[in-house]
Amino acid sequence: SPVQVKKICCIGAGYVGGPTCAVIALKCPHIQVTIVDLNQARVDAWNSPDYALPIYEPGLEDVVRQCRGRNLFFSTDVDKGILEADLIFVSVNTPTKKSGVGAGFAADLNYVESATRRIAAVATSNKIVVEKSTVPCRTAESMRTILEANSRTGTRFDILSNPEFLAEGTAITDLFKPDRVLIGSLQTPEGKAACQSLSDVYANWVPKERILTVGLWSSELSKLAANAMLAQRISSINALSAICEATGANIDEVAHAVGFDSRIGPKFLRASVGFGGSCFQKDILNLVYLSESLHLPQVAAYWRQVVEMNEYQKSRFSKTVVDTLFNTITGKHIAVLGFAFKADTGDTRESPAISLIRDFLLERAYVTLYDPQVEESQIWLDLSEALPTMPLETIKKQVNIVHSALEACKQKEAVVIATEWKEFKEIDWQAVYQNMSKPAFVFDGRMIIDADELRKIGFTVKVIGRGE
Ligand code: NAD
Ligand code: UGA
Repeated sequence: SPVQVKKICCIGAGYVGGPTCAVIALKCPHIQVTIVDLNQARVDAWNSPDYALPIYEPGLEDVVRQCRGRNLFFSTDVDKGILEADLIFVSVNTPTKKSGVGAGFAADLNYVESATRRIAAVATSNKIVVEKSTVPCRTAESMRTILEANSRTGTRFDILSNPEFLAEGTAITDLFKPDRVLIGSLQTPEGKAACQSLSDVYANWVPKERILTVGLWSSELSKLAANAMLAQRISSINALSAICEATGANIDEVAHAVGFDSRIGPKFLRASVGFGGSCFQKDILNLVYLSESLHLPQVAAYWRQVVEMNEYQKSRFSKTVVDTLFNTITGKHIAVLGFAFKADTGDTRESPAISLIRDFLLERAYVTLYDPQVEESQIWLDLSEALPTMPLETIKKQVNIVHSALEACKQKEAVVIATEWKEFKEIDWQAVYQNMSKPAFVFDGRMIIDADELRKIGFTVKVIGRGE
């Protein structure tokens, strides 16, 4: 029969583990939640007296303020967390493998495996172990083998899959009102009982009809499927944006018309300079690798095209900038507004801004950059990684980081909008125009400006998905 969960441990205090388990603590005051991580600096930031949390997420600080020290704890003592918990979330990173078999495609399961081995080594009582990380289909089986081969006799492990669907920037509202919570388990009596225990935790705030219970492998695959299909919509609309630019059709109007079909729906049809974020590309490549391993080359090629279209969209945008600036940007000064992969986050993983700036630097342009959230040290890290052959001193000579959009645009020849931060919609373009070199260009990779208004001021304007 289902156990009543009293203590939860979450391994991994990142973008997913932190917000997810903080919300569980808020909604379940009767459950003690401990989030553990090996990274001391990260744990210190979660524990910082002035709430200088390691990630920026609207509403998160408020949740942590309400629970920290009450029933929410952050610690580097992984073993103690494991030892005390009835239920353990594994919420560690699963990046794309950089070397070895499947390099560039397969998920690196090293962190999941270490966490699993630690659980096996430390646990002295029964545990429900929950995969929260996004993993390839059938990872739960490997986890079970490791747990069973290394555990003390008499200790039982039940494994569940409970993938996370939150999006960064809206994590807290997504967690408060999820479209669905998905729990996968073995269809054995023990598996179903474990599933019920976790379901009861969510039922403290999520309506029962939104808690979906399925088989383990379906649950694991559904997470990859959801991300692949979301990304595929963006690549589809971006592919159409190229046709719009060549024909004079307007991608906004096309998306609106197409999205009005209730079978298609209006969400996630915003053309852009390309999708970024830590997961879309990684999870699709993971699906491609899975398909290839299963000898399904046509399936692999189908999904791979979603990522290739995204690469094309990013390079197409850089090329538009170069072409429009009279086929050369060497020595020219370009302002780039936004570095995060989307608005309302400080996260830069796979941000399209990185590819754009890399392209501009390779053309030997000067870039002045402004982002309201991203730390300067992160920008240098990302640019050095994107330009492995360019020494950091050279990058620093070509890139200047400033503290406002207006400052970034001053005396530049072109302004490129890479992230849809709300403040970029409120820029005083008249003031920007006066201080720019002429002719003055604006390239909008996020469809946030009023192009006609800017043209009246005197700008030459290019918006993604819009012909002249
Ligand atoms: P992250 O890198 O922000 O956090 C992972 C944390 O795990 C790190 O702080 C790391 O130090 C810690 N860690 C790694 N190995 C450990 C170990 N053995 N013991 C203790 N701590 C360990 O990653 P994230 O963005 O939170 O993503 C975690 C997982 O969730 C990934 O599988 C990702 O695909 C998935 N996911 C992410 C998002 C998102 O929006 N970022 C959304 C849904 C799902
Ligand atoms: C995405 C999914 O939306 C989440 O459901 C999922 O849990 C998560 O990945 C994950 O597994 O990590 P996230 O990457 O945080 O969330 O953010 P999204 O809002 O999905 O945006 C991803 C990228 O697509 C951003 O660069 C965004 O600007 C871009 N995008 C999004 C578009 O270009 N057009 C759109 O219409 C929507």
